[in-house]
Amino acid sequence: DNCKSGCRGALVVLEGLDRCGKTSQSARLVKNLDELGYPAELFRFPDRNTVIGQMISSYLNSDSQLDDRTIHLLFSANRWEKRSLMESKLRNGITLIVDRYAYSGVAFSSAKGLDIEWCKAPDMGLLAPDLVLYLDISPEKASERGGYGGERYEQLEFQKKVAKSYEILRDASWKIIDANRTVEDVQEQIRDIVLDYVKTCRNGKSLSQLWL
Ligand code: TMP
Repeated sequence: DNCKSGCRGALVVLEGLDRCGKTSQSARLVKNLDELGYPAELFRFPDRNTVIGQMISSYLNSDSQLDDRTIHLLFSANRWEKRSLMESKLRNGITLIVDRYAYSGVAFSSAKGLDIEWCKAPDMGLLAPDLVLYLDISPEKASERGGYGGERYEQLEFQKKVAKSYEILRDASWKIIDANRTVEDVQEQIRDIVLDYVKTCRNGKSLSQLWL
């Protein structure tokens, strides 16, 4: 089926606690969509390849210290610097699978005690996702997974607060995915949900702005 003019890709965001499986699911999803003939690309935030991303990476590795509001704004700036690229890809019919987005920004910073409305403000006007998938796993389960504990936020008590922030942030449009199942089961469910949205966006659903 050919893409008519005006047909665009879908903006799909995966969110969840550290070690919930987002990163492997994002990669599998891109591959699945490509195989089914729907062009798709992976984005992830933080994008550590930019100058701002390197500052974020150094903070996460505890190689630098930054004020809570400063790092919050850097995470947001790191999304803004990709906004126009993301928009042009979407308008060219490419579906974007995004591993973390503004919701991570708000969930992690508000878990430190920053006001939620203050946290949302700098991300207002970014592209709004067509679909948010929340990979649901308990903080305890996530902490038992390999590789946990390496970076600044990977601590059980903090992740419990992040889980609470996500609960406040999410609305009825989010799809909650039980991430305690096998990688293959989760992958299959995600693929089926996303295919529906990709088709809707190709049929002309318009792009909108986040939190405006
Ligand atoms: P990553 O492990 O997905 O690369 O993310 C690195 C950490 O940064 C993770 O603990 C979540 C956190 N984070 C924020 O605090 N704010 C943000 O805006 C984003 C995108 C991630």
